[in-house]
Amino acid sequence: MVQLTLPKNSTVKTGKTWPKPKTEGGKKAALKEFKVYRWTPEDAKNPRIDTYTLDMGQTGPMVLDALIKIKNEIDPTLTFRRSCREGVCGSCAMNIDGSNTLACTKASAEVKGAVAIYPLPHMPVVKDLVPDLTQFYQQYASIEPFLKSKSPEPETEWRQSPADRAKLDGLYECILCACCSTSCPSYWWNGDRYLGPAALLQSYRWLADSRDEATGERLNDLEDPFRLYRCHTIMNCASACPKGLNPAKAIAEVKKMVAVRRG
Ligand code: SF4
Ligand code: SF4
Ligand code: FES
Repeated sequence: MVQLTLPKNSTVKTGKTWPKPKTEGGKKAALKEFKVYRWTPEDAKNPRIDTYTLDMGQTGPMVLDALIKIKNEIDPTLTFRRSCREGVCGSCAMNIDGSNTLACTKASAEVKGAVAIYPLPHMPVVKDLVPDLTQFYQQYASIEPFLKSKSPEPETEWRQSPADRAKLDGLYECILCACCSTSCPSYWWNGDRYLGPAALLQSYRWLADSRDEATGERLNDLEDPFRLYRCHTIMNCASACPKGLNPAKAIAEVKKMVAVRRG
């Protein structure tokens, strides 16, 4: 049997357990532990899991509230991305309690016991909970996510019927958080050549757009054993999407378009 072992400098060690908050006036505090992945390129140390304890009576309900409280009041070196805190920007995507999701829409109370927080899996780590998404964004750029048209530009807007507009529902809502791509086993193993569910869902968003006139060249670009066909319909992507989208379905639609074109 194949033995898989991590290189010595990649094994995750037990880190620091930070002091528990002081309770005032003998009040019973609702304490909750947060076990957070820590790694910095600034020293040669292994990644570690630090344990922080918060009084949930003094902490906002979402995991992002807990991380902000830890950073503001306990450990300012903790590094993570966030912006909107409304599930709109996609920047707080991370792995919480074993699933990829958005820290700002995941309630700490949903997790029984300690809340385990890691960066999105299978991506290089910049620091702590911040993954390097350079390749992910390059793949998004490669599908040319904008309207391409050969018809003369109209004097006003490009018109679209309500029925054609409805075809974009379930596609346009993608916030490019990368929860789906980083939960996809095919993307883990072939992320350099397989576009992954997020970029492919975005690609279908333009293929499905009645105003776009570049269907042929878009399909030419996708018709490749790796870029499109590494999807094996494992469906992790649909389970992971915090916006309730179904990238696997969009990928199946792209494969159908390629098949129909072949005749
Ligand atoms: S359905 Fe395709 S894209 Fe989604 S997780 Fe599975 S292999 Fe990846
Ligand atoms: S499809 Fe869902 S999980 Fe994937 S990038 Fe878009 S919003 Fe995030
Ligand atoms: S902070 Fe914007 S999606 Fe969470």
